[in-house]
Amino acid sequence: MKICAIILAAGLGRRMKSKTPKVIHNLSGKPIVTYSVEAVKAVKGVSKIVLAIGRHSEEIIEIFKGEPIVSFAYQESLLGTADALNSGLGGLNGEHFDYTLVLTADAPLIRSETLRGLIDRHIRGGNAITVLSFVSKNPSSYGRVLRNPDGTVRCIVENNDASEEQRQINEVNSGIYVFSKEALPLLDKIKKNEKKGEFYLTDIVSIGNENALKVEAQKMDDEDEFIGINSRLELLQALNALKRRINRHWMDEGVTLMDENTTLISPDVSIGRDTIIYPNVILEGKTRIGEGCTIYPNVRITNSTLEPDVIVKDSTLIEDSKIAQGAAVGPFAHLRPGSSIGKKAKVGNFVEIKNSTLGVNTKASHLSYIGDAALGDNVNIGAGTITCNYDGVKKYKTVIEDGVFIGSDSQLVAPVTIGKGAFVGAGSTITHDVPEGALALCRAKQRNILDWVKAKFSTKKHDK
Ligand code: UD1
Ligand code: CA
Repeated sequence: MKICAIILAAGLGRRMKSKTPKVIHNLSGKPIVTYSVEAVKAVKGVSKIVLAIGRHSEEIIEIFKGEPIVSFAYQESLLGTADALNSGLGGLNGEHFDYTLVLTADAPLIRSETLRGLIDRHIRGGNAITVLSFVSKNPSSYGRVLRNPDGTVRCIVENNDASEEQRQINEVNSGIYVFSKEALPLLDKIKKNEKKGEFYLTDIVSIGNENALKVEAQKMDDEDEFIGINSRLELLQALNALKRRINRHWMDEGVTLMDENTTLISPDVSIGRDTIIYPNVILEGKTRIGEGCTIYPNVRITNSTLEPDVIVKDSTLIEDSKIAQGAAVGPFAHLRPGSSIGKKAKVGNFVEIKNSTLGVNTKASHLSYIGDAALGDNVNIGAGTITCNYDGVKKYKTVIEDGVFIGSDSQLVAPVTIGKGAFVGAGSTITHDVPEGALALCRAKQRNILDWVKAKFSTKKHDK
């Protein structure tokens, strides 16, 4: 039994009022179109996926490069969903499939179990056409499913073409179908909808009936799963539904969320149990959060790994970084890409770290910039320390070995190495390597001018 899937993704999505094609708009950190492709990829038995795309859709090809199961077919002019399916079928290059699953690319919340269920139902029922329908509280942006008195499906009518009475129907078309081989030739019988100048795939339901094929509409209840994104409002509705689905999942897995509404967890994130997440937290990309972490409010973490028991304090941004077990970062810290924070290390207020490693128990607690640096274990970075890694042309590395103490307000001008256990006196500008165990001091010697204040101001006071 061979199954292929055609995903219709060529439309511009005019109602989005955007320069960007609709299906590459961002939904919780990923392009809309990736969701339906991933759902289909997880359906057992599907061996080929063709995306019907428009001529403006180079970005879609870019998203799926390196995925052999996905191929592309251009729909030359956007003549409607039936024409898009025809283009998609062209992308099969003559390969024959027993069943063709069809989806619109703008309904990203579809789950693979639902698709698998639809295919099973289609096969078991010996159907030629199975369309997935659902009950919508606000059906105006969908085609209505009209049924015969005996309950069988008669046809689908688009909102534009529906009578007042038909518009009251709340069973609508999801845009997801399964076709057997014998149904596909009927695509040629679809006539242009004169109002819109498009060929509507939905017409295949009535045409199937006229040709005595077995047509079924499988009705689902969970409206959220089938939200079609046509406008910015529907994009937000889909985001809210996805957010709810993901947040409920992590709560079921033993994660505490303090505010379901303002916690935004992207679909590819994973979180260990007993982690606590405060309000206004965004976890993006391929972020991995270990068990027992605490993430305080207003934190964004993207493509990063946190081992267990990490604490991220308020208003911190972490990008493409790693934090080892028991470390604490923030408040108001910024880990830029390539930062690796060691076990039990501490990164405190207003500290920026870029492309650097901090060893076990190392601390940079206040107001520092650490860039392109390798810090060993048990290093103490005093407040206001800066690695001067850039000379205006090139970047250089700073090495700070185990047990080093850097006094406050020091500048380490790279390339420079501070040897094991060395001390740097506060306020030093270090331009040469410091040997192991040494004290480096590089600042003007202090002079105290006795009674200077009195000498300077006493005459002035007399003048007054
Ligand atoms: C479509 C269905 C509607 C259904 C709804 C579900 C038709 C005529 N209407 O309406 O019954 O309730 O989806 O969400 O099928 N596309 C192309 N080429 C085209 C036109 C569209 O590839 O020429 C693609 C779009 O990129 C989109 C999908 O097909 O992913 C659906 O098109 P859209 O214009 O959004 O259709 P709807 O009006 O939402
Ligand atoms: Ca749509």
